[in-house]
Amino acid sequence: MENTAKKPCVVLGVTGGIAAYKACELLRLLQKRGIDVFVVMTKNACRFVAPLTFETLSGHPVATDTFERPATWEVEHIALAKRADLFVIAPATANVLGKLACGIADDMLTTTAMATRAPLLLAPAMNTGMWESAAVQQNVQTLRARGAHIVGPASGHLACGDSGAGKLEDVEVIAARAQALLSPKRDMEGLRVLVTAGPSREMIDPVRYLTNRSSGKMGYAVARAAQRRGAQVTLLSGPAALTPPADVTLVPFTTTQELLKQATALAPQMDVVVQAAAPADYRAEEVAKSKIKKRGGEALTLRLVENPDVAAAIGAGKRPGQVLVGFAAETDDVLTNAQAKLARKRLDLIVANDVTQPGAGFDVDTNIVTLITEADTRSLPLMSKDEAAERILDRAMALREERARKA
Ligand code: CTP
Repeated sequence: MENTAKKPCVVLGVTGGIAAYKACELLRLLQKRGIDVFVVMTKNACRFVAPLTFETLSGHPVATDTFERPATWEVEHIALAKRADLFVIAPATANVLGKLACGIADDMLTTTAMATRAPLLLAPAMNTGMWESAAVQQNVQTLRARGAHIVGPASGHLACGDSGAGKLEDVEVIAARAQALLSPKRDMEGLRVLVTAGPSREMIDPVRYLTNRSSGKMGYAVARAAQRRGAQVTLLSGPAALTPPADVTLVPFTTTQELLKQATALAPQMDVVVQAAAPADYRAEEVAKSKIKKRGGEALTLRLVENPDVAAAIGAGKRPGQVLVGFAAETDDVLTNAQAKLARKRLDLIVANDVTQPGAGFDVDTNIVTLITEADTRSLPLMSKDEAAERILDRAMALREERARKA
């Protein structure tokens, strides 16, 4: 007889979307990876796939409604919550994301999700308009900031006839992510990591400023990933409409000069510095004390002076063994420009992306990056910023090891 006692346990929550049928395949893939799967379904999910299907595939009873079996319901969701090493919700509808973000627990799935202390992996699937709606985006951000992991959605042709983001991520990708979460890397334990993120703001007058397009999402994803992997993280953040991850030290900055001051003070104590911030290269030579008024059609000339290059300053003070990572968001000659920056700023790794490509620009949750070191250039496919953050840290850690071997 097979011994299931030591198998890691995934509680798979299935909600009511057309992609619910794909959860059957996901369950199979998880089992193939040696994982024991228990299924919880919402009422609407049962309209798409019969609980019997999941019951037969999983070899366990399927939990569907807290009040259906009054004798056991009270303990059932708690028992499942405790049993879970990981809670996966696939597909996760807009409705369930909203409930989780707001703390609503009104059925078996949401009560179990609320009670569990296991990590939460959400695979959203819905119509593009719904996915892009402010409410869903805000809920996803809230859940992410609380530590939930989001996989997908992918883009493509949707069941409703639309094309765009909202497809359930490939089940192989979800299964791989689940397995990675069950055996998380803790390879950055004890390391001190500085991450810079977000734009700077350079005042022109009391009501106007110059800035760069940057949401801060990529930097925040790196900070979250490093913290998860055991690092002690300081996040030096420009004004960003994002909730900072729990357990990182947040140091705010507004101008590039402030960033320079803070970053150069913090960098010497750091093992790894990841500079995802987008500091403005120029600032107004003089900041007007009063609001600049219109001049009846006459052109306005602003004199700008160059800001310091923060990455170059940190590069100039680089300690042996320290790994410095920079970014290069480019529109033309991406690789040539990035390679030049790698050398000029004495970086060990530069993450280049062509911001003109769909899925790689600003404000989105995905990126298409190329990791460039002195030795090689590795292009990665479109992936979530969370996934890209992991790959960037993998490369930075490999560089650290190479250094240690050579030393
Ligand atoms: N950077 C910096 N200080 C600046 C400008 C950029 O530290 N004043 C850092 C960014 O955080 C990023 C890297 O340098 O890691 C590349 O940023 P980018 O704006 O692409 O480079 P620039 O040197 O400003 O080059 P250019 O604007 O000419 O493309």
